[in-house]
Amino acid sequence: MTRILLVGAGKMGGALLRGWTIDPSYEITIVDPAVPDKPTRFDWHASPASLPSSYAPAIIVLAIKPQQMAEQLPRYQRFSRSLFLSIAAGIDLDRLQQELGGASRPVLRAMPNLPASIGQGVTALVANAYATAEDKALGQRLLEAVGQVVWLDDEAQMNAVTALSGSGPAYVAALVEAMALAGEDLGLAPERARALARQTLIGTAALLAQSQIEPADLRMAVTSPKGTTAAALDVLLADEGGLFSLLSRALAAAEQRACDLAQGG
Ligand SMILES: NC(=O)c1ccc[n+]([C@@H]2O[C@H](COP(=O)([O-])OP(=O)(O)OC[C@H]3O[C@@H](n4cnc5c(N)ncnc54)[C@H](OP(=O)(O)O)[C@@H]3O)[C@@H](O)[C@H]2O)c1
Repeated sequence: MTRILLVGAGKMGGALLRGWTIDPSYEITIVDPAVPDKPTRFDWHASPASLPSSYAPAIIVLAIKPQQMAEQLPRYQRFSRSLFLSIAAGIDLDRLQQELGGASRPVLRAMPNLPASIGQGVTALVANAYATAEDKALGQRLLEAVGQVVWLDDEAQMNAVTALSGSGPAYVAALVEAMALAGEDLGLAPERARALARQTLIGTAALLAQSQIEPADLRMAVTSPKGTTAAALDVLLADEGGLFSLLSRALAAAEQRACDLAQGG
């Protein structure tokens, strides 16, 4: 039995919870003020104050808002034998360790993304120096319940990950919106344009997933010389790289913002 304490059962905490429930070896306790009216299969507490003094989870997963961390973390200092895993954006390992009481505490930091809510996420993970191989394996196992996991050697890359895969679902959604609007401009009915754009993304994503084809090869497979796709790509990739350079600048802005937020900006 692996005892897990989940702190915060909102969008991301709830996604993790759904991923974990299929494993009967997990004994899950939740701290979240929104205690359900009806009994659930989880031991649910409105605050850590009501957890029994003998309670000792193997891992405490922190899925509350970053701005709540300073106030809440000291309340978990008493769990001196637990591994901590934080998914809060912008709160680094040093700060987590300090606010959890300092001194050789094993801490993992993760950045998941929204498709985790349907088990299709991708999460970057990084560990502090006190986390053992066993700690890392446990963190990885819990996050693999909602998608793929990649390990970072250097925590400094977390801001770049936030800019790419953390915020990425919003860029992809914006592309679908833009394609639908462009379809409308060509005279398609709005409903039809939205349906075509949406399923184009879904089908392309499924193709990438199932065939393992490289995106550049897929692009070339659709592009015949002097054909319609080539005409569009001439526009999309014009002027110093077009879409490529636009995304490069967009991700740089997101990375800078993640950096500012981490410094309290
Ligand atoms: N959503 C994403 O795509 C995403 C991606 C990567 C990382 N994250 C990170 O995941 C964390 C959670 O984000 P979220 O989107 O899941 O937020 P959320 O939906 O607001 O979830 C936070 C949950 O914590 C509860 N809560 C509030 N105070 C609490 C306390 N003192 N103790 C325990 N639980 C408390 C909230 O309850 P109330 O609603 O009643 O306040 C809510 O259920 C954030 O740190 C965020 O940076 C999110």
